[in-house]
Amino acid sequence: MTDWKDPPRLFIPGPVKVDGDVLEQLARPTLGHRGKEYAQLQGETVEMLKRILFTKQNVFLSTSSASGIWEAAIRNCLAPGETLLATGCGAFSDKWGDVARMCGADVDELKVDWGQPILPELIDEKLATGKYAAITLVHNETSTGLTNPVVEISEMTKAKYPDVLVFVDTVSGMVGLPLKFDELGWDVAFASVQKAFAIPPGFAVAAVSNRALEKSKGVPNRGYYFNFELWAKSAEKNQTLVTPNVQHIMALNYQCHKLVNEGMENVWKRHAQMGEFVRGWAKENFELFCDEKYASNTLTTIKNTRGINVAETIAAIQQKHNTIFGNGYGKLKEATFRIAHMGDITMDDLKELLGWIDEEIG
Ligand SMILES: Cc1ncc(COP(=O)(O)O)c(C=O)c1O
Repeated sequence: MTDWKDPPRLFIPGPVKVDGDVLEQLARPTLGHRGKEYAQLQGETVEMLKRILFTKQNVFLSTSSASGIWEAAIRNCLAPGETLLATGCGAFSDKWGDVARMCGADVDELKVDWGQPILPELIDEKLATGKYAAITLVHNETSTGLTNPVVEISEMTKAKYPDVLVFVDTVSGMVGLPLKFDELGWDVAFASVQKAFAIPPGFAVAAVSNRALEKSKGVPNRGYYFNFELWAKSAEKNQTLVTPNVQHIMALNYQCHKLVNEGMENVWKRHAQMGEFVRGWAKENFELFCDEKYASNTLTTIKNTRGINVAETIAAIQQKHNTIFGNGYGKLKEATFRIAHMGDITMDDLKELLGWIDEEIG
């Protein structure tokens, strides 16, 4: 059993290590969510999130994990008769296409092999047909450790297809990777907080463009819990539609203060340094799973070129050092392993972990 006074240090790509000062926020006494003090907490948190995401549009808080916003984007912003282009380059982006279909959407897929990026020209070719009202895109594919060229994609979509809505899963990208929502021209972008916000799981943040919100008002059967229009009405009063996880918002507020004080350019730089460090080790000892040009600065997926027993190595390090790193995801389980370097993970943490892996694999 886990000793709660000495929790394991998590280097899996979510949930990641949560520091004690953040955990303390979750133990604060709760507040009535229709009271003044709560409204102040939500208002301040959302204002900071707008600075963190570089947006003057809507930022919503959702008591759900990020998968809820997968559904919300589709159910709010895709009208009957419209077709979605779902791009897929790994487990999570592929899944979003499946989820869109489960929501009743008409979906065409644009898939590349796992480890390959979604290039702007691939999207361009599809959108040139004029068939699509919206696309889904993953910013950072957590299964393959790949960051898609989202700036290039967004420049292309903004210039050539300004009417196509762009929905972006930035679950393992937000905070760790550069993201300027308004400049990118995205319509929905979201993350759960167990990644680079370094908060325990169970809560999500979503940015929604004004035009997506307006469009949603004419879309039927959006449901209640994830209804953007109802969210926006509540947000005007600095409230959420339903009883939120107040403690999560306390922890989010606390983490946002730290991010705003550090400055996002510095936060992104810190993640880039950690990414470079882990990639250096990976290249010396193994190989990167994807082309370094697209390798993520929030996690590294490493090709198991030495045929180590990934499960046994993870178990040995857990037993000796109370520290856990990630195996490969899905079909890549033993073929790769993954190390998170995001949130409150530090360079010293990484040096320690990589030293222990060195000792274990000899
Ligand atoms: C890229 C990506 N999208 C979506 C999800 C699903 O997020 P959640 O488990 O918070 O619903 C994950 C989870 O790891 C992810 O990495």
